[in-house]
Amino acid sequence: MSLTLNNPEKFAKPANISKEKLDKAIKAACDRLAKLIPAFEQAFPGTCSQDFKYVPGENRNWECGMFTGCFWLAYLLSGDEKFKKVAEKHLDTYKWRLDEKIGLNDHDVGFVFTPSCVGGWKACGNEYAKELAIKGAEEMFAHYTPVGKYILHTGYPGGLTSWRIIVDTMMNAPILFWAGKELGREEYTKAAVDHCYKTIENIVREDGSTWHHFQFEAETFKPLHPYSGQGYSLEGCWSRGNSWGVYGFPIAYSYTKNEDFKNVHEKISSYYLNHLPEDYVPYWDFFFTDGSGEERDASAGAIAVCGFNEMAKHIEDGETKTVYENAATLILNSLIEKYANYDNDNADGVLLEVTHTKPGKQGVGECAVYGDYFYFEALARYALKDFKMFW
Ligand code: GLY
Repeated sequence: MSLTLNNPEKFAKPANISKEKLDKAIKAACDRLAKLIPAFEQAFPGTCSQDFKYVPGENRNWECGMFTGCFWLAYLLSGDEKFKKVAEKHLDTYKWRLDEKIGLNDHDVGFVFTPSCVGGWKACGNEYAKELAIKGAEEMFAHYTPVGKYILHTGYPGGLTSWRIIVDTMMNAPILFWAGKELGREEYTKAAVDHCYKTIENIVREDGSTWHHFQFEAETFKPLHPYSGQGYSLEGCWSRGNSWGVYGFPIAYSYTKNEDFKNVHEKISSYYLNHLPEDYVPYWDFFFTDGSGEERDASAGAIAVCGFNEMAKHIEDGETKTVYENAATLILNSLIEKYANYDNDNADGVLLEVTHTKPGKQGVGECAVYGDYFYFEALARYALKDFKMFW
């Protein structure tokens, strides 16, 4: 297997981001996050901004984990203790979620506990964060069906359940890889591996594009049909969903060294890279490109930077590694130059032009904390030599 690129020259030239440019981007991102501290020390933005402003609320949804993750990353990038203090203060709200079972009834449990609690453990050796992360992994494991061999979209095996698999879960499975390794729990690792295979079989299409959801028949697990979900249509491909694959499979590969995961990643990456517009930052669905007048999803760019950067670390020198390294740098450079928020105080986000769901008419061309988180992580991957990914 190798990459099949329509336009290999687009990723062939050595790409570079100067230290000065990177430092300026990091400072702007940290300064922007610092402005949120008075209102968000104990509070969390919702799914996305409203008219570009984050509205304070409780730690209840999947995106909250990424908000806390932004503070750990800002601490690592700046060394400024005030960011660490906020992240530490957030931790009790994850205990509350575990005690009260708040928003844990679906596949997104990994998003809640990985950047926040695994992040706190990896960034600062915070034992309390680790304890919470382990409990988060238990919650994640509860959504795995050993008969269907995947992590359910919603609900628990035997309960009131949505028998779907969903591409986003490629980023939730990592908490099982992490806890499986940390605790020696082979059943966690097996569940995550099974989930990756089920994703390969039912979510990844022949050309490397991805469905958002795929429906199985209840109890029999007979494959039924796909759903376009947050994407445009069944002919399109939701770009953030595709980028969950661009990052999820390198994480799976980093834990398992399973060649099937490397190969499927090449297929998904080929599709992703072949559908990037001129400035390397995807529209919200790959059905659209330049001239369409549609909105971008800059978060899909930031997630992919992390995915290409991660996979490049695990493969030998050669054409594929060079393409991943160049693609990551070209996308990040574009985010820094065109999509980062430097001086727009009317917008709370660190990253602009994120589209949560256009079909759902929510957060179209707005800000969202997952966009901010993956932009911070992308910056950390370039600025910090010994950066340990939180996933
Ligand atoms: N639930 C993950 C997403 O909207 O990307």
